[in-house]
Amino acid sequence: MIDELQKEIEGARQSFLHELAHVQSPEKLAALKERYLGRKKGAIGQFLARLKGCAPAEKPAAGQAINELKAFIEEALAAVSCGDGAVREWLDHSLPASELPVGRFHLIADIQRRIEDIFLQLGYEIAHGPEAELEDYNFTKLNIPEHHPARDEQDTFFLEGHDELLLRTHTSPMQVRYMLAHKPPLKIISPGKAFRKDDPDATHSPCFHQVEGLLVDRAIHFSHLKGTLEAFCRSFYGPDVVLRFRPGYFPFTEPSAEVDISCFLCSPQQGSSPAGNCRVCKGSGWLEILGSGMVHPQVLRNCGIDPEVYSGFAFGMGIERVAMVKYGVPDLRLLYENDLRLLGQFG
Ligand code: PHE
Repeated sequence: MIDELQKEIEGARQSFLHELAHVQSPEKLAALKERYLGRKKGAIGQFLARLKGCAPAEKPAAGQAINELKAFIEEALAAVSCGDGAVREWLDHSLPASELPVGRFHLIADIQRRIEDIFLQLGYEIAHGPEAELEDYNFTKLNIPEHHPARDEQDTFFLEGHDELLLRTHTSPMQVRYMLAHKPPLKIISPGKAFRKDDPDATHSPCFHQVEGLLVDRAIHFSHLKGTLEAFCRSFYGPDVVLRFRPGYFPFTEPSAEVDISCFLCSPQQGSSPAGNCRVCKGSGWLEILGSGMVHPQVLRNCGIDPEVYSGFAFGMGIERVAMVKYGVPDLRLLYENDLRLLGQFG
């Protein structure tokens, strides 16, 4: 009963406001007043009459809601009535507009766009690939052997009913797609989602984002990879950042390198020693940001490119990882909760 009454009271408030907005003459204003505050037939009087039917426990709340509506109506009518009976223009055009919240890109999208902008300036094209990928492109053509643990059902989402399809575990199959469809020289980055059967925790999520890079041309060597990543990192992280290349292993690049950047919090310059208790790099002075290497000759061959003529480099970085490193986001899951108080802090 009380819920219903309260709904009706709110409804009456809305219709009063609507009617008030359309009142243009003192007569109409008087009629409006009568409809709501009139002794016998006014809406308020009728609500009050219904109070009798309310259970004793509900009466105080119901009575209060009716009185509030009455006070609201009286106040609104007073605001628009002039002493001489005229209706005052009740819209004050000189007031500042009410503030509209301004939207912005989600941090992940924002970082992706910034990475794209930098590589566009370096002459790269952006290529997008499918999230449901052929097993052949995700693994086989990338030189990942048949029984490699990464292919395990425990790590990979295979798509039921589609033998050859899976949710790509990295953006690297876009290397294959692009090389199969284009002749060198090639120069692309490919951002997008990747999927792995990881239980969510502070640093893992079953769905995450990567940016893949691929360049293939004649006489491309490791120094091109180094120079490119250095140019990117200086632009993205700041001119003082130092890169460290560590030997790594990926079946689709040879040689491969894991790339670290100097910790932005405690090692701003080359040569300075890291703080032992740094919360960002945990005292090592370095932050791992991506995997990279020279495209394996077998991968080039698998994609119809002659490794005797062409060579190339590739890299892949995790966008969530970049967000955590660049903004000190302590837990990846915060990025997916869409709490505007958190997301509004960056950029
Ligand atoms: N695909 C690799 C990963 O997901 C990253 C990588 C990309 C490494 C390209 C080398 C070259 O970890």
